[in-house]
Amino acid sequence: MASTRTPAKHFAPLAIGAPEPYRALPVRLERMIHFVPPHNEKIRSKIKELAGQVDVVLGNLEDAVPLDQKGNARKGFIQMARDNDFGATGLWTRINCLNSPWMLDDVAEIVSAVGDKLDVIMLPKVEGPWDIHYLDQLLAQLEAKHKVAKPILIHAILETAEGVNNIEAIAAASPRMHGMSLGPADLAASRGMKTTRVGGGHPDYGVLADAGSDAAAPRSFYQQDLWHYTVGKMVDACLAYGLKPFYGPFGDFSDPAACEAQFRNAFLQGCLGAWSLHPSQIEIAKRVFSPDPAEVKFAKRILDAMPDGTGAVMLDGKMQDDATWKQAKVIVDLARIVASKDAERAAAYGAL
Ligand code: GLV
Ligand code: MG
Repeated sequence: MASTRTPAKHFAPLAIGAPEPYRALPVRLERMIHFVPPHNEKIRSKIKELAGQVDVVLGNLEDAVPLDQKGNARKGFIQMARDNDFGATGLWTRINCLNSPWMLDDVAEIVSAVGDKLDVIMLPKVEGPWDIHYLDQLLAQLEAKHKVAKPILIHAILETAEGVNNIEAIAAASPRMHGMSLGPADLAASRGMKTTRVGGGHPDYGVLADAGSDAAAPRSFYQQDLWHYTVGKMVDACLAYGLKPFYGPFGDFSDPAACEAQFRNAFLQGCLGAWSLHPSQIEIAKRVFSPDPAEVKFAKRILDAMPDGTGAVMLDGKMQDDATWKQAKVIVDLARIVASKDAERAAAYGAL
């Protein structure tokens, strides 16, 4: 039996009066998804200023919100969405998970009140395509009922062993899919990993160099990236379906260097952004997820040297061909998007 809709129906709205799904994702700069606790009034009063500094503001309703604040977080998010103009900055919310008592009201109340301002719903603990299908249908009904003009997208958190197993079906589940974030804390628990961290590496996960002829000599130990496999799997699933992959949270705010290294691995592997849970991580994400000016200039030289993208040329002793031209295009295209929102980096990139 077919597990997906026919190509003809794939892009049909799931409710009469709901907006047409996007055929391609809107072009948006999303280097960091900045988490805020919407039940905190002091933080709500600073959203206007924050929106000018980040690419995405996300009101978090799920984990880290105390039980007795779940209703206030939802109300607070609606308030902050109403009170502010977000311009080119994305407005997202992370709702509670599907088996919680809050999820239905999160979606129903938020879409009815501020559905037109909401860009993306982040859905935690996604286990399979059925989770996406449920939210997809529900959103279409609510969009139709409240006359929401543009489709609200779904971003899945990859944070259960079952979700990782079903990653491709999740990516393929709906044209409403925006992308995925790694959720290393919940995923570690779900997998039975023996860690107590939110993202990042572990000093004991590594490779010990072979012993040399001197058995008494110290042997080097090289720490490895615990998330390499999962990020690689997520990047492939996302890019195969035209979605955007993100590294998720890095919980040790006292170690910005490790945060930067973890974000950079994800960037080099294909991710477009990460979560910022602390204001200090905003600049780290900007630095990492904006291509390096020297790399952009070299990529521009490749494009200029091969105007139609074919053949082979040598630049600084390095061979360039169709494949490096395509890599260069990824970097220059991203630099153009960054330059459209970030004046400081636009100046560093020069003419693109
Ligand atoms: C994020 O939600 C995580 O569990 O890491
Ligand atoms: Mg989680």
